[in-house]
Amino acid sequence: MSQQIDHLLTEDRRFAPPADFVQNAVAKPGIYDEAADDRLSFWAARSRELLHWHTPFTNVLDWSNPPFAKWFDDGKLNVAYNCLDRHVEAGNGDRVAIHFEGEPGDSRSVTYAELTAEVKRVANVLAGLGVGQGDRVAIYLPMIPEAIASLLAVARLGAVHSVVFGGFSADSLRARIDDAGAKVVITADGGYRKGKASALKPAVDQALSDRGDGEQATVEKVLVVRRTEQEVEWTDGRDVWWHDVVPAASAEHEAEAFDAENPLFILYTSGTTGKPKGILHTSGGYLTQAAFTHRNVFDLHPETDVYWCTADIGWITGHSYVTYGPLANGATQVLYEGTPEFPEPGRWWDIIEKYGVSIFYTAPTAVRSFMKQGREIPQKRDLSSLRLLGSVGEPINPEAWMWFREVIGSGLTPIVDTWWQTETGAIMISALPGVTETKPGSAQVALPGVEIDVVDEKGEAVGNDAGGLLVVTDPWPSMLRGIWGDPDRFVETYWKMFADKGFYFAGDGARLDEDGDIWLLGRVDDVMNVSGHRLSTAEIESALVAHDATAEAAVVGASDETTGQAVVAFVILKESFLKDNSAEGLANTLRQWVGEQIGPIARPRDVYIVGELPKTRSGKIMRRLLRDVAEGREVGDTQTLADTAVMSVIARQVK
Ligand code: PRX
Repeated sequence: MSQQIDHLLTEDRRFAPPADFVQNAVAKPGIYDEAADDRLSFWAARSRELLHWHTPFTNVLDWSNPPFAKWFDDGKLNVAYNCLDRHVEAGNGDRVAIHFEGEPGDSRSVTYAELTAEVKRVANVLAGLGVGQGDRVAIYLPMIPEAIASLLAVARLGAVHSVVFGGFSADSLRARIDDAGAKVVITADGGYRKGKASALKPAVDQALSDRGDGEQATVEKVLVVRRTEQEVEWTDGRDVWWHDVVPAASAEHEAEAFDAENPLFILYTSGTTGKPKGILHTSGGYLTQAAFTHRNVFDLHPETDVYWCTADIGWITGHSYVTYGPLANGATQVLYEGTPEFPEPGRWWDIIEKYGVSIFYTAPTAVRSFMKQGREIPQKRDLSSLRLLGSVGEPINPEAWMWFREVIGSGLTPIVDTWWQTETGAIMISALPGVTETKPGSAQVALPGVEIDVVDEKGEAVGNDAGGLLVVTDPWPSMLRGIWGDPDRFVETYWKMFADKGFYFAGDGARLDEDGDIWLLGRVDDVMNVSGHRLSTAEIESALVAHDATAEAAVVGASDETTGQAVVAFVILKESFLKDNSAEGLANTLRQWVGEQIGPIARPRDVYIVGELPKTRSGKIMRRLLRDVAEGREVGDTQTLADTAVMSVIARQVK
């Protein structure tokens, strides 16, 4: 089977950045030449310019034992010092680091001086609980300032955090605690979501309870933040209230310098099969690329911008672009605890108006759900402070891109579509907003210093106007250093496919257009084969969403006697269309529409109108489950779904 993925959609809209944007932009066109001249010197210069090294490095990259990279490995730094103390020492202690907005409407602003003092206190508390360099601390918290303070306090001690998303169950939490051998858990009584206090502490209690298998959890202490005033069960000797110990702790704490390759965090990401992978990131290289990308891709002017990334701290985006990138750069940011719909659908736009957010980074799934609700909601708010929008997590189809720009960005703001992964640690592909003419739907170009290609299964470049597999051809500073406790799986998963070339295989399909711009086509596992043509889920979904009636779409390949696989689409309609049209009529219209837009080969055999799509908690569509429905099978494991009931509803609708 050829690895070539057929290309069906064309897009020829282009948007140049506004002139004043270009003039004041952080990244200038010359940056690409500088990186191309000498990639390693480029990264070394960025690292020296953006970070404070207690002991300056002289080595840049050690790639003598691939795929195990070392960056800047004879240097020493403290990650938390870089995110906090040095801004205070530079006279910016009064700058707001975090504008916190609680879901119930409570809010507080925390300055760099305050956050630094808080992190020092937490570091002292953690040290008192026995945490030292290399120890693992599990963090299971809602989106509150204490979450950011916890990550930084762990980093300050040279210890390793493992953040577990608050929506994960006790079992998932226990599996992650066990795998990492965590010594301490930081949690809260609960957090606010959808207007209710939802509990967290009981899941920790359950996770740590004796499971009758003779295995004791490695956890010795549980530090508990009070957020919701819910009743909690208490284990004396193990559980410690944050408010009992943190305010009383000393705000003096000297940041010790650690090796550049000191582990910073583990973050678990689900593999295609089996147990989650503990992706390991280290300190100096990670912080360099997180800071560099945050400053250049988001065109950050820390003195004036108000930045907001809506990702949860439980995902890599919450690590790199809520915690480390923004704080290393001294940014002022918004942190929001709750959901976009509470108390009503316009909450996010209210927050943008309230804080004058200028840079806004979110996910396509959020954009599409706002499209579904209609533009009237954002149009009631003043969003004129916005000057840059960003997208991450999935391909953003051109229609959603255009809507984002027109409705949220007043038709003016550049949009950066940023491709990266938990494994890459930081953004790898994106426009630079003051340099690149943007194209709706394309992530566009590798960042300066990052080497990306699209290749066939032998690792040969496919060249422009062709599709294939996305690879990173050279090591990059924020690359994963391994899978916690499983070096073989690390090699097998990411490096074996192109072992002779030494390429990192990302698992994504991609296409280069005539200009050499990169289009992400979805996970390779999801690519369909219809009558011998390899079709991408992303393109057909894009065509479906381009129809006025459609809010969201997911496409899968279902086995088919005649064509090998057939395209099956699951579509959510916009609320305004549901009222006046029959579902059956619209399904036919949409089948035809796709045929007209991209050709008969892509016309779905079936279009199912559904109310919801199965998504992971980070908003990615789980096509595997839809494939089960489309092929009439029992639906597989739904544990990682945000809402496990969704699949039974869909299965019923399809029947
Ligand atoms: O398939 C790609 C998709 O998300 C995957 C990485 O997921 P995760 O590790 O959870 O990290 C998400 C946040 C960085 C990728 O392999 N993906 C991410 N960004 C994009 C994307 N697909 C298309 N366009 C993007 N901008």
